[in-house]
Amino acid sequence: MRTIAVLNQKGGVGKTTTVANTAGALAERGYRVMVIDLDPQAHLTIHLGVDAESDGSGAYDVLCNSANIKEELLHVRENLWLLGANIDLVGAENELVSVVGREIILREALKEVSEFFDYLIIDCPPSLGLLSLNALSAVGEVFIPIQPHFLALQGFGKLMQTVTLVGSRINPSLKISAILLCMYDSRTTLSSDVKSDIEQFLENARGTDQPWADAEIVPIHIRRNIKLAEAPSFGKTIFEYEPACNGASDYQAVAEYLIGGNGDGQTQAETEVAEQSDEDDSSPEAVTEPEPRSVQEAREAAQTASEQTPDPDETAAFEYGADDMSDYERGDLDTNSDEQDLQNRRAMGE
Ligand SMILES: Nc1ncnc2c1ncn2[C@@H]1O[C@H](COP(=O)(O)OP(=O)(O)OP(=O)(O)O)[C@@H](O)[C@H]1O
Ligand SMILES: [Mg+2]
Repeated sequence: MRTIAVLNQKGGVGKTTTVANTAGALAERGYRVMVIDLDPQAHLTIHLGVDAESDGSGAYDVLCNSANIKEELLHVRENLWLLGANIDLVGAENELVSVVGREIILREALKEVSEFFDYLIIDCPPSLGLLSLNALSAVGEVFIPIQPHFLALQGFGKLMQTVTLVGSRINPSLKISAILLCMYDSRTTLSSDVKSDIEQFLENARGTDQPWADAEIVPIHIRRNIKLAEAPSFGKTIFEYEPACNGASDYQAVAEYLIGGNGDGQTQAETEVAEQSDEDDSSPEAVTEPEPRSVQEAREAAQTASEQTPDPDETAAFEYGADDMSDYERGDLDTNSDEQDLQNRRAMGE
């Protein structure tokens, strides 16, 4: 079973959209796919048409009530199974605070079912707390979706630091395998600037033992497409909702990349990205968000956003609350992380 956590502590970058539609594409191709919703917002559960309140207790019950994962899985489509989430999951971090080995509960639970599936894809919440730690402990790979906007790479160092920490202490085979650019608009210099910053960052790690030393930018960019935003409210994947739109073809290509993406099979995906046009589907309701016109406007927009949304990084150390993560609590690793963040930013010319 190939196991992937889709993680970025930044909110709204395309994690859930990526999990739902990549899993949908793989399942339609006949692969047996399990997805896990580890976000108390339950967006993946809802996206797949499941009533989160009544049927979304699976992830909580596995983590907090030692439920058997086999009995909690919901068969939501042909070849697609979901371990659902609901708001109960908010309490998991507190309930597990004194449980020994709380970072590896999911990994242990998955042993029961790993032989039945070809792919496991986990939708992580927008934080680096215990739920994301459980995901990182249970998988071999991390996919990082990024929305290439101003400050897209803020907090990137902390994310890398967390993966490194889990890799060195809990899950030595953990690797960041891919970075997926979501809501990408190649007509803006901002998108291509962020892309080249990431390329530079990855280039600097080649040949090192960093978990992202072999990571690459997925050669398919997910274009901004209104159909992708509409599909969840109908409880449908993009292939069920609008199979002919750009969003559907982009996620088909991501699935193809995954299937062939073990080192040598990327030619087809690369061909597709060369053919990607940024013109949104010409449906009348298609909209594009206005692009900030100047750095000043971008800064103001980012300032407003950060005032409205608390930075999850600031709560990450608190959220660990773990004895085996005690360095984090003491701040030792936080310091390293800040330094690393600074180094990364310097490397990226920020
Ligand atoms: N390529 C796209 N084009 C247009 N809208 C998109 C695209 N990808 C995602 N969206 C929309 O953007 C919003 C955020 O996407 P999504 O929920 O996938 O992000 P997320 O990272 O999972 O967010 P959170 O951190 O809150 O879990 C959603 O309303 C989604 O429908
Ligand atoms: Mg989400």
